[in-house]
Amino acid sequence: MTGYFVTATGTDIGKTYLGAALLRHWRREERAIAALKPVMSGFDPADVAGSDAGQLLMAMGAPMDSGGLNLISPWRFAAPLSPDMAAAREGRTIPYAKLVDTCRAVAGMMPEEGRLIIEGVGGIFVPLDDRHTVMDWMKDLQLPVLLVAGSYLGTISHTLAALAAMKLHGLAPHAVIVNESPVSPVPIAETVEVLRRHAPDTRILTLKRNPDAAAIAALAGAL
Ligand SMILES: Nc1ncnc2c1ncn2[C@@H]1O[C@H](COP(=O)(O)OP(=O)(O)O)[C@@H](O)[C@H]1O
Ligand SMILES: [Mg+2]
Repeated sequence: MTGYFVTATGTDIGKTYLGAALLRHWRREERAIAALKPVMSGFDPADVAGSDAGQLLMAMGAPMDSGGLNLISPWRFAAPLSPDMAAAREGRTIPYAKLVDTCRAVAGMMPEEGRLIIEGVGGIFVPLDDRHTVMDWMKDLQLPVLLVAGSYLGTISHTLAALAAMKLHGLAPHAVIVNESPVSPVPIAETVEVLRRHAPDTRILTLKRNPDAAAIAALAGAL
């Protein structure tokens, strides 16, 4: 099984977009696929299709019913806050050990040629409870990490900071995916060049806006 943990330098950078694009690609390859977005805040039950889990289910061609939702996104919270805060608003907490076990169990059920996407939440240090952040989650899962970055002005510092923080925790991403931001005064190729110079040991790939199937296939092939 190949499973990727998709994180980002921040929120709204393109984790779901990347995960959904890869799932559609692997589906075209007729692979067994699975996705998890175990923790979701800002969830509106009246708009499942607009949620991250809904988009992942759609990409997998899976029905968007409560069964599918419960499987891929067991911990859903209404408030559009960090997950620990959103959970607290509902008098709940995220059971960290169970979160890790759930991810491991799904990974353990995948066939050899299967592909799994686990989307984190926000960026690398988003708190999950009073003691754990996404960093702990990544360390405990030990899956290859895809770190999604933008191409906006400022992304170089955000990306290098994320790489340095991961390194402090003994982690290195499998790849950084520079996802083209809607607005940027900097050409994406130049951003990638600079990142490559400052992070020479890191695989850095790009994703253009509204990429076609061939571009996604090329990206998936480079992972
Ligand atoms: N490469 C891209 N091309 C077009 N739209 C994109 C691309 N990447 C992200 N988006 C859009 O940007 C928004 C934020 O991306 P999303 O994947 O939801 O971020 P995240 O999961 O990191 O919060 C979404 O509306 C998404 O459809
Ligand atoms: Mg998302």
